[in-house]
Amino acid sequence: MPDRRSGRTPPSPLSPDILVRETLRNLRERGTIGQCLRALEHLRAAALPPLQRPLLPLIVRQIRSTAHVHDVDNLISAASRQFLRAIVPIQKRSEIRGLMKAVRTLAPSRVLEIGTANGGTLFLLTRVSAPDAHVISVDLPGGPFGGDKNEWKHSIWKAFATGRQKMTLLRADSHKHETLERVRQHLDGHALDFLMIDGDHTYDGVKMDFEMYSPLVRSGGLIAFHDICPHPHGFGGEVFRYWQDVKKGRQATEFVENPATGFGIGLLRV
Ligand SMILES: C[S@@+](CC[C@H](N)C(=O)[O-])C[C@H]1O[C@@H](n2cnc3c(N)ncnc32)[C@H](O)[C@@H]1O
Repeated sequence: MPDRRSGRTPPSPLSPDILVRETLRNLRERGTIGQCLRALEHLRAAALPPLQRPLLPLIVRQIRSTAHVHDVDNLISAASRQFLRAIVPIQKRSEIRGLMKAVRTLAPSRVLEIGTANGGTLFLLTRVSAPDAHVISVDLPGGPFGGDKNEWKHSIWKAFATGRQKMTLLRADSHKHETLERVRQHLDGHALDFLMIDGDHTYDGVKMDFEMYSPLVRSGGLIAFHDICPHPHGFGGEVFRYWQDVKKGRQATEFVENPATGFGIGLLRV
């Protein structure tokens, strides 16, 4: 029926544009579009791992092609979405961003990461370290708290080093005295500027990593702990308990996106 004032016929509630608009609004409000996009992302994530090993040379080339990228956000996006998702960091974005910006201000020359998993944090660490930095990873393949049998990824991890940087990959249990000795040998009398502790997440395990490796860090250097918030399903282990103890009386910073959902990074200044 025509509108009395305008004389025009209003669009029928069943007209295609209104139907499309309403349908989209309903989908958006009920979260279905978001769910579809998430499902597509999950499908993509599931489809890529079988391709990673056969396409290793391609991934290594792609990693090398990012040598000029310095922006922390771009680096996190690349690690999380590119390289056939071979090096996805096990991190929350805002937390790892905060940490990497803090590490960048230090421009460390000697870095040790305990617990590398896919290699995501190792990649980011090389890119925020000095151009001639020596970056060491200690990781136990197949170890607890996320460890894959990931030795085949070593050629990817070696490609993280740019220019004059040096990468040392130690496949070993960080708690063994011989591993500490190997790290010392590689440091060749120098101190560490930055230590990332993200390996064994039991209370005793993380405590041992701190007690064994923190003496290697120079005064003014930084030590980071991942998973300082209790995870609702216990995935983060007991780091949160140790963090409460170790931060007492020390200069500590916390990067925590949402404490209710776990993760969180703690940073100590030595
Ligand atoms: C949570 S993952 C590391 C995640 C990585 N830093 C990241 O954010 O992407 C923990 C890693 O520590 C390793 N790990 C566990 N216990 C270890 C130990 N005693 N020595 C060395 N590595 C260990 C596991 O194999 C796994 O690769």
